[in-house]
Amino acid sequence: LKRIGVMTSGGDSPGMNAAIRAVVRTCAYYHTECAGFYRGFQGMIDGDCINMNARSVRNIVNQGGTILQSARSKQFLTKEGRAQAAQNLKEQEVDAMILIGGDGTFRGGQVFSQEHGIPVIGVPGTIDNDIYGTHYTIGYDTALNTVVEAIDKIRDTASSHNRLFFVEVMGRDAGFIALNSGIGAGAEEILIPEEDLGLDRLLDSLERSRRAGKTSSIVVVSEGDKIGKNVFELAEYVKENLPFYDARVSVLGHIQRGGRPSCFDRVLASRLSVKAVELLLDGKKDLMVGMLNNEIESCSLDQALKGKHTINKDLLRISEILST
Ligand code: F6P
Repeated sequence: LKRIGVMTSGGDSPGMNAAIRAVVRTCAYYHTECAGFYRGFQGMIDGDCINMNARSVRNIVNQGGTILQSARSKQFLTKEGRAQAAQNLKEQEVDAMILIGGDGTFRGGQVFSQEHGIPVIGVPGTIDNDIYGTHYTIGYDTALNTVVEAIDKIRDTASSHNRLFFVEVMGRDAGFIALNSGIGAGAEEILIPEEDLGLDRLLDSLERSRRAGKTSSIVVVSEGDKIGKNVFELAEYVKENLPFYDARVSVLGHIQRGGRPSCFDRVLASRLSVKAVELLLDGKKDLMVGMLNNEIESCSLDQALKGKHTINKDLLRISEILST
Protein backbone atom coordinates (compact mmCIF):
# COMPACT_ATOMS: atom_id res chain seq x y z
CA LEU A 1 0.00 0.00 0.00
CA LYS A 2 1.26 3.43 -0.89
CA ARG A 3 -1.18 5.69 0.91
CA ILE A 4 -3.55 5.05 3.82
CA GLY A 5 -6.45 7.33 4.77
CA VAL A 6 -7.73 7.92 8.29
CA MET A 7 -10.92 9.54 9.59
CA THR A 8 -13.05 9.80 12.72
CA SER A 9 -16.81 9.38 12.50
CA GLY A 10 -19.91 9.35 14.73
CA GLY A 11 -19.86 10.81 18.23
CA ASP A 12 -16.39 12.04 19.20
CA SER A 13 -14.68 10.38 22.15
CA PRO A 14 -11.61 11.21 24.23
CA GLY A 15 -8.63 9.34 22.81
CA MET A 16 -9.57 9.72 19.15
CA ASN A 17 -6.64 12.10 18.75
CA ALA A 18 -4.28 9.56 20.27
CA ALA A 19 -5.64 7.08 17.70
CA ILE A 20 -5.11 9.50 14.79
CA ARG A 21 -1.59 10.19 16.03
CA ALA A 22 -0.80 6.48 16.24
CA VAL A 23 -2.15 5.81 12.73
CA VAL A 24 -0.13 8.68 11.24
CA ARG A 25 3.08 7.82 13.09
CA THR A 26 2.81 4.11 12.31
CA CYS A 27 2.41 4.97 8.63
CA ALA A 28 5.51 7.19 8.88
CA TYR A 29 7.42 4.42 10.63
CA TYR A 30 6.63 2.02 7.78
CA HIS A 31 7.31 4.68 5.08
CA THR A 32 3.69 4.76 3.97
CA GLU A 33 1.91 8.01 3.13
CA CYS A 34 -1.08 9.04 5.19
CA ALA A 35 -4.07 11.26 4.37
CA GLY A 36 -6.45 12.57 7.01
CA PHE A 37 -10.11 13.08 5.99
CA TYR A 38 -12.18 15.70 7.81
CA ARG A 39 -15.65 15.07 9.26
CA GLY A 40 -15.68 11.32 8.71
CA PHE A 41 -17.48 9.94 5.66
CA GLN A 42 -18.59 13.45 4.73
CA GLY A 43 -14.99 14.51 4.16
CA MET A 44 -14.47 11.45 1.97
CA ILE A 45 -17.48 12.51 -0.12
CA ASP A 46 -16.32 16.14 -0.28
CA GLY A 47 -12.70 15.18 -0.96
CA ASP A 48 -11.75 17.23 2.10
CA CYS A 49 -8.40 15.83 3.14
CA ILE A 50 -4.82 16.74 4.05
CA ASN A 51 -1.49 15.01 3.86
CA MET A 52 -0.36 14.02 7.33
CA ASN A 53 3.15 13.29 8.53
CA ALA A 54 4.66 12.50 11.91
CA ARG A 55 4.83 16.22 12.78
CA SER A 56 1.17 16.91 11.87
CA VAL A 57 0.10 15.05 15.01
CA ARG A 58 2.41 16.66 17.55
CA ASN A 59 0.92 17.60 20.92
CA ILE A 60 -2.44 15.95 20.36
CA VAL A 61 -2.07 12.74 22.38
CA ASN A 62 -3.49 14.58 25.41
CA GLN A 63 -6.35 16.42 23.66
CA GLY A 64 -10.03 15.52 23.73
CA GLY A 65 -12.24 15.69 20.64
CA THR A 66 -10.74 14.94 17.24
CA ILE A 67 -8.52 17.21 15.15
CA LEU A 68 -10.07 15.62 12.05
CA GLN A 69 -13.56 16.49 13.35
CA SER A 70 -16.48 14.14 13.14
CA ALA A 71 -19.94 13.87 11.62
CA ARG A 72 -22.78 11.46 11.03
CA SER A 73 -23.07 11.69 7.24
CA LYS A 74 -26.53 11.14 5.75
CA GLN A 75 -25.12 11.33 2.22
CA PHE A 76 -22.88 8.32 2.83
CA LEU A 77 -26.01 6.23 3.42
CA THR A 78 -26.73 6.59 -0.31
CA LYS A 79 -25.04 4.60 -3.09
CA GLU A 80 -24.22 7.83 -4.91
CA GLY A 81 -22.55 9.31 -1.84
CA ARG A 82 -20.37 6.26 -1.42
CA ALA A 83 -19.48 6.22 -5.13
CA GLN A 84 -18.40 9.85 -4.87
CA ALA A 85 -16.24 8.98 -1.85
CA ALA A 86 -14.62 6.06 -3.74
CA GLN A 87 -13.93 8.34 -6.69
CA ASN A 88 -12.24 10.87 -4.41
CA LEU A 89 -10.08 8.21 -2.78
CA LYS A 90 -8.97 7.08 -6.24
CA GLU A 91 -8.08 10.64 -7.20
CA GLN A 92 -6.18 11.11 -3.95
CA GLU A 93 -4.46 7.74 -4.54
CA VAL A 94 -5.65 6.47 -1.17
CA ASP A 95 -5.55 2.64 -1.24
CA ALA A 96 -7.16 1.83 2.11
CA MET A 97 -8.96 3.51 5.02
CA ILE A 98 -8.77 3.35 8.78
CA LEU A 99 -12.13 4.24 10.29
CA ILE A 100 -12.22 5.35 13.90
CA GLY A 101 -15.75 5.29 15.30
CA GLY A 102 -18.64 3.13 16.46
CA ASP A 103 -21.03 0.64 14.89
CA GLY A 104 -22.55 3.16 12.45
CA THR A 105 -19.06 3.86 11.16
CA PHE A 106 -18.28 0.18 10.74
CA ARG A 107 -21.58 -0.49 8.97
CA GLY A 108 -20.85 2.30 6.49
CA GLY A 109 -17.29 1.06 6.05
CA GLN A 110 -18.37 -2.50 5.39
CA VAL A 111 -20.83 -1.54 2.64
CA PHE A 112 -18.27 0.84 1.14
CA SER A 113 -15.58 -1.83 1.02
CA GLN A 114 -17.97 -4.39 -0.49
CA GLU A 115 -19.15 -1.96 -3.18
CA HIS A 116 -15.78 -0.46 -4.11
CA GLY A 117 -13.16 -3.03 -3.08
CA ILE A 118 -11.30 -0.52 -0.92
CA PRO A 119 -9.93 -2.26 2.21
CA VAL A 120 -11.00 -0.79 5.53
CA ILE A 121 -10.04 -1.47 9.15
CA GLY A 122 -12.21 -0.28 12.03
CA VAL A 123 -10.86 1.12 15.30
CA PRO A 124 -13.55 1.23 18.00
CA GLY A 125 -13.95 4.76 19.36
CA THR A 126 -17.09 5.63 21.34
CA ILE A 127 -17.81 6.44 24.97
CA ASP A 128 -20.66 3.90 24.96
CA ASN A 129 -18.46 0.75 24.98
CA ASP A 130 -21.20 -1.00 22.99
CA ILE A 131 -19.00 -2.75 20.43
CA TYR A 132 -18.60 -6.49 20.13
CA GLY A 133 -15.04 -7.79 19.70
CA THR A 134 -13.42 -5.51 22.24
CA HIS A 135 -13.75 -5.27 25.99
CA TYR A 136 -13.04 -1.53 25.83
CA THR A 137 -13.69 1.19 23.28
CA ILE A 138 -11.61 4.37 23.07
CA GLY A 139 -13.15 7.07 25.27
CA TYR A 140 -15.16 4.85 27.56
CA ASP A 141 -12.67 4.94 30.44
CA THR A 142 -12.37 8.73 30.29
CA ALA A 143 -16.16 9.10 30.19
CA LEU A 144 -16.47 6.85 33.25
CA ASN A 145 -14.00 9.01 35.14
CA THR A 146 -15.85 12.17 34.11
CA VAL A 147 -19.16 10.73 35.28
CA VAL A 148 -17.76 9.53 38.59
CA GLU A 149 -16.20 12.93 39.24
CA ALA A 150 -19.52 14.64 38.46
CA ILE A 151 -21.50 12.29 40.72
CA ASP A 152 -18.99 12.81 43.54
CA LYS A 153 -19.84 16.51 43.34
CA ILE A 154 -23.58 15.88 43.18
CA ARG A 155 -23.23 13.65 46.24
CA ASP A 156 -21.94 16.64 48.24
CA THR A 157 -25.22 18.46 47.62
CA ALA A 158 -27.30 15.31 48.04
CA SER A 159 -25.86 14.75 51.46
CA SER A 160 -25.86 18.43 52.54
CA HIS A 161 -29.57 18.74 51.69
CA ASN A 162 -30.81 15.20 52.36
CA ARG A 163 -31.80 14.85 48.74
CA LEU A 164 -32.41 12.09 46.28
CA PHE A 165 -30.66 12.69 42.95
CA PHE A 166 -31.44 11.06 39.64
CA VAL A 167 -28.35 11.38 37.45
CA GLU A 168 -28.85 10.62 33.77
CA VAL A 169 -25.80 9.37 31.90
CA MET A 170 -25.17 8.59 28.22
CA GLY A 171 -24.67 5.19 26.64
CA ARG A 172 -27.33 5.09 23.95
CA ASP A 173 -28.91 1.60 24.23
CA ALA A 174 -26.20 0.20 26.45
CA GLY A 175 -25.76 0.40 30.21
CA PHE A 176 -21.96 0.15 30.47
CA ILE A 177 -21.43 3.75 31.52
CA ALA A 178 -24.31 3.70 34.01
CA LEU A 179 -23.41 0.38 35.57
CA ASN A 180 -19.71 0.99 36.07
CA SER A 181 -19.94 4.64 37.04
CA GLY A 182 -22.81 3.75 39.36
CA ILE A 183 -20.65 1.27 41.23
CA GLY A 184 -17.66 3.60 41.16
CA ALA A 185 -19.67 6.47 42.58
CA GLY A 186 -21.54 4.32 45.10
CA ALA A 187 -25.05 4.80 43.67
CA GLU A 188 -28.00 3.30 45.54
CA GLU A 189 -29.70 2.18 42.33
CA ILE A 190 -28.60 1.85 38.72
CA LEU A 191 -31.16 1.78 35.91
CA ILE A 192 -29.89 0.27 32.66
CA PRO A 193 -31.59 -0.82 29.41
CA GLU A 194 -30.40 -4.43 29.79
CA GLU A 195 -32.39 -5.01 33.00
CA ASP A 196 -35.74 -3.40 33.69
CA LEU A 197 -35.89 -2.93 37.45
CA GLY A 198 -39.52 -1.82 37.29
CA LEU A 199 -41.09 1.09 39.13
CA ASP A 200 -42.31 -0.95 42.10
CA ARG A 201 -38.90 -2.38 42.84
CA LEU A 202 -37.34 1.06 42.54
CA LEU A 203 -39.81 2.46 45.10
CA ASP A 204 -39.23 -0.53 47.39
CA SER A 205 -35.51 -0.11 47.19
CA LEU A 206 -35.65 3.62 47.92
CA GLU A 207 -37.99 3.04 50.83
CA ARG A 208 -35.66 0.37 52.22
CA SER A 209 -32.71 2.77 51.93
CA ARG A 210 -34.65 5.35 53.88
CA ARG A 211 -35.55 2.83 56.58
CA ALA A 212 -31.93 1.69 56.75
CA GLY A 213 -31.02 5.21 57.81
CA LYS A 214 -29.84 6.73 54.54
CA THR A 215 -30.62 10.41 54.34
CA SER A 216 -29.55 10.99 50.74
CA SER A 217 -29.39 8.79 47.68
CA ILE A 218 -28.06 8.73 44.13
CA VAL A 219 -29.83 6.83 41.35
CA VAL A 220 -27.85 6.55 38.11
CA VAL A 221 -30.16 6.35 35.11
CA SER A 222 -28.87 5.27 31.72
CA GLU A 223 -30.39 7.36 28.92
CA GLY A 224 -31.67 4.16 27.26
CA ASP A 225 -33.23 2.54 30.33
CA LYS A 226 -36.57 0.79 29.85
CA ILE A 227 -38.45 1.81 32.99
CA GLY A 228 -40.96 3.63 30.78
CA LYS A 229 -40.52 7.16 32.13
CA ASN A 230 -37.92 9.74 31.29
CA VAL A 231 -35.69 10.86 34.11
CA PHE A 232 -37.82 13.93 34.95
CA GLU A 233 -41.06 11.93 35.03
CA LEU A 234 -39.31 9.35 37.14
CA ALA A 235 -38.28 11.94 39.72
CA GLU A 236 -41.88 13.26 39.84
CA TYR A 237 -43.26 9.75 40.22
CA VAL A 238 -40.94 9.03 43.11
CA LYS A 239 -41.79 12.35 44.79
CA GLU A 240 -45.51 11.54 44.54
CA ASN A 241 -45.10 8.05 45.96
CA LEU A 242 -42.35 8.70 48.49
CA PRO A 243 -43.05 12.27 49.62
CA PHE A 244 -40.29 12.20 52.24
CA TYR A 245 -37.76 12.38 49.40
CA ASP A 246 -36.71 15.77 48.04
CA ALA A 247 -35.81 14.60 44.54
CA ARG A 248 -33.73 16.40 41.92
CA VAL A 249 -32.53 15.54 38.41
CA SER A 250 -29.14 16.10 36.84
CA VAL A 251 -28.56 15.25 33.18
CA LEU A 252 -24.81 15.09 32.61
CA GLY A 253 -25.03 15.34 28.80
CA HIS A 254 -22.09 16.11 26.57
CA ILE A 255 -19.56 16.80 29.30
CA GLN A 256 -19.22 13.01 29.14
CA ARG A 257 -17.78 13.16 25.62
CA GLY A 258 -15.11 15.79 26.21
CA GLY A 259 -11.95 16.33 28.16
CA ARG A 260 -8.44 15.00 28.23
CA PRO A 261 -8.27 11.28 27.60
CA SER A 262 -7.23 9.10 30.52
CA CYS A 263 -3.92 7.26 30.29
CA PHE A 264 -5.88 4.05 29.73
CA ASP A 265 -7.62 5.50 26.66
CA ARG A 266 -4.37 6.90 25.23
CA VAL A 267 -2.62 3.53 25.55
CA LEU A 268 -5.65 1.67 24.19
CA ALA A 269 -5.92 4.05 21.21
CA SER A 270 -2.20 3.72 20.52
CA ARG A 271 -2.16 -0.07 20.66
CA LEU A 272 -5.30 -0.50 18.54
CA SER A 273 -4.18 1.96 15.89
CA VAL A 274 -0.66 0.56 15.45
CA LYS A 275 -2.29 -2.83 14.93
CA ALA A 276 -4.81 -1.41 12.46
CA VAL A 277 -2.06 -0.02 10.21
CA GLU A 278 0.00 -3.21 10.49
CA LEU A 279 -3.00 -5.32 9.47
CA LEU A 280 -3.53 -3.20 6.36
CA LEU A 281 0.17 -3.39 5.46
CA ASP A 282 -0.11 -7.14 5.92
CA GLY A 283 -2.80 -7.27 3.24
CA LYS A 284 -5.72 -7.74 5.64
CA LYS A 285 -9.03 -5.95 5.18
CA ASP A 286 -12.53 -5.46 6.56
CA LEU A 287 -11.53 -6.17 10.14
CA MET A 288 -12.01 -4.40 13.43
CA VAL A 289 -9.24 -4.29 16.00
CA GLY A 290 -10.15 -4.76 19.64
CA MET A 291 -8.67 -5.46 23.03
CA LEU A 292 -9.71 -8.71 24.67
CA ASN A 293 -8.15 -9.65 28.00
CA ASN A 294 -5.46 -7.04 27.48
CA GLU A 295 -4.38 -8.53 24.13
CA ILE A 296 -4.90 -6.70 20.83
CA GLU A 297 -6.97 -8.94 18.56
CA SER A 298 -9.04 -8.53 15.42
CA CYS A 299 -12.34 -9.85 14.14
CA SER A 300 -14.24 -9.33 10.90
CA LEU A 301 -16.36 -6.19 10.65
CA ASP A 302 -19.25 -8.55 10.08
CA GLN A 303 -18.70 -10.27 13.43
CA ALA A 304 -18.30 -6.93 15.17
CA LEU A 305 -21.61 -5.76 13.72
CA LYS A 306 -23.57 -8.96 14.31
CA GLY A 307 -22.28 -9.71 17.81
CA LYS A 308 -23.49 -8.06 20.97
CA HIS A 309 -21.20 -6.82 23.70
CA THR A 310 -23.10 -7.78 26.80
CA ILE A 311 -22.80 -6.24 30.23
CA ASN A 312 -21.59 -8.26 33.16
CA LYS A 313 -24.80 -8.81 35.11
CA ASP A 314 -22.83 -9.76 38.19
CA LEU A 315 -22.12 -6.05 38.55
CA LEU A 316 -25.82 -5.51 39.30
CA ARG A 317 -25.54 -7.98 42.16
CA ILE A 318 -22.40 -6.22 43.43
CA SER A 319 -24.24 -2.91 43.30
CA GLU A 320 -27.19 -4.34 45.21
CA ILE A 321 -24.98 -5.78 47.94
CA LEU A 322 -23.02 -2.57 48.33
CA SER A 323 -26.04 -0.29 48.51
CA THR A 324 -27.40 -2.10 51.58
O1 F6P B 1 -22.58 7.43 20.91
C1 F6P B 1 -22.13 8.44 21.76
C2 F6P B 1 -23.28 9.27 22.27
O2 F6P B 1 -22.75 10.27 23.12
C3 F6P B 1 -24.38 8.50 23.00
O3 F6P B 1 -24.03 8.15 24.31
C4 F6P B 1 -25.54 9.44 22.88
O4 F6P B 1 -26.76 8.75 22.89
C5 F6P B 1 -25.32 10.10 21.54
O5 F6P B 1 -23.96 9.91 21.20
C6 F6P B 1 -25.65 11.57 21.49
O6 F6P B 1 -25.48 12.01 20.19
P1 F6P B 1 -25.43 13.55 19.76
O7 F6P B 1 -24.10 14.11 20.20
O8 F6P B 1 -25.55 13.50 18.29
O9 F6P B 1 -26.57 14.21 20.46
